[in-house]
Amino acid sequence: MARLYFDGNAELIRDRTIAMIGFGNQGSAQALNLRDGGFKVVIGNIEDEYAGRARDQGFTVYSIPEVVKHGDIIVMAIPDEVQPEVWVRDIAPNLLPGKIVIFLSGYNVYYGFIKPPKDVDVVMVAPRMIGEGVRDNFVNGKGFPVLIGVANDHSGKAWDYTLAYSKAIGAIGRPGGVAVESSCEEETVTDLFSEHTWAGAFLFLLAEGYNVLIENGVSPEAAMLELWASGELIAITKAIAEKGLFAQLKGHSTTSQYGHLTWGPRYVTDDVKRLMRDAIRQIKDGTFAREWALEKMLGYPVFNRLWDEVMKSRVWQDEDKLYRVLERRK
Ligand code: NAI
Repeated sequence: MARLYFDGNAELIRDRTIAMIGFGNQGSAQALNLRDGGFKVVIGNIEDEYAGRARDQGFTVYSIPEVVKHGDIIVMAIPDEVQPEVWVRDIAPNLLPGKIVIFLSGYNVYYGFIKPPKDVDVVMVAPRMIGEGVRDNFVNGKGFPVLIGVANDHSGKAWDYTLAYSKAIGAIGRPGGVAVESSCEEETVTDLFSEHTWAGAFLFLLAEGYNVLIENGVSPEAAMLELWASGELIAITKAIAEKGLFAQLKGHSTTSQYGHLTWGPRYVTDDVKRLMRDAIRQIKDGTFAREWALEKMLGYPVFNRLWDEVMKSRVWQDEDKLYRVLERRK
């Protein structure tokens, strides 16, 4: 079993300046939590709409090279695929010895796309929570889970810093919060594995379920509400998190339980089991990371084509009509 931590000493970093690089999903949520907790936060951003949002929220915004000079703790809150070029151009040349670099995912360190110098602490504090949840939980007095890891312990205090930062952003030291001792490798492999297997399959299974119901004379509205639009899935995933993967089934009708237990396993065919093992192999040997880096270099041709296909699909078009009627989309 992994070691779990429920609290940390945030006073260790109380007098340090935290340079949040990026003000997107995680950057904005973490910066707001840190500021509310009395920590010194400045933002480093390119001049885009995110910089404007940070200024609107009352933060001082510097260019990325400038903020690296100002900050004692550098937090990498920009997308993984842009981090390597930003690191080489803006961060590495301005990074002085003794600083602390915090990654919010293990991706670039694990694959070696970023090679930080040996004279800084390099740690990972990876929230298992979307940015919105990082902020909402904080505002509601709750914590959230993070995976923590150390890639370079220059000061000898790197593990303490992971806990100090976890506490400062409101992850631990609050109900529901926990920091799980992990590593850049474990975080990257498990995160990508979810995305490449059940999480993607889940969306496409629901989309196919929609097609089958429509073929069988069900109205688009009834089909979509049954499958995802009602929000029932929120209650189910909440029950999974709180009660357990299968334990939550007890809260369904017995007819539903029987249907789940008889038909559910039939979808986990030998092909699916093989695909899951192929996915983890391609994650671990770097095949996926190379494919994604190439995709970025070529200007995202496959990514854009796949989005195009999704947006032309019947399920997207029908959903668009329903969501406009329900005023969920403008
Ligand atoms: P995001 O997509 O919200 O990042 C937006 C920010 O990146 C903006 O400030 C924007 O100005 C900046 N940015 C975009 N392109 C740039 C470029 N070419 N050069 C410089 N700055 C650029 O990022 P997000 O989703 O918050 O992810 C940040 C980190 O947090 C990543 O390492 C990610 O893996 C990790 N993470 C994200 C989670 C999430 O909920 N989105 C959950 C857990 C970890």
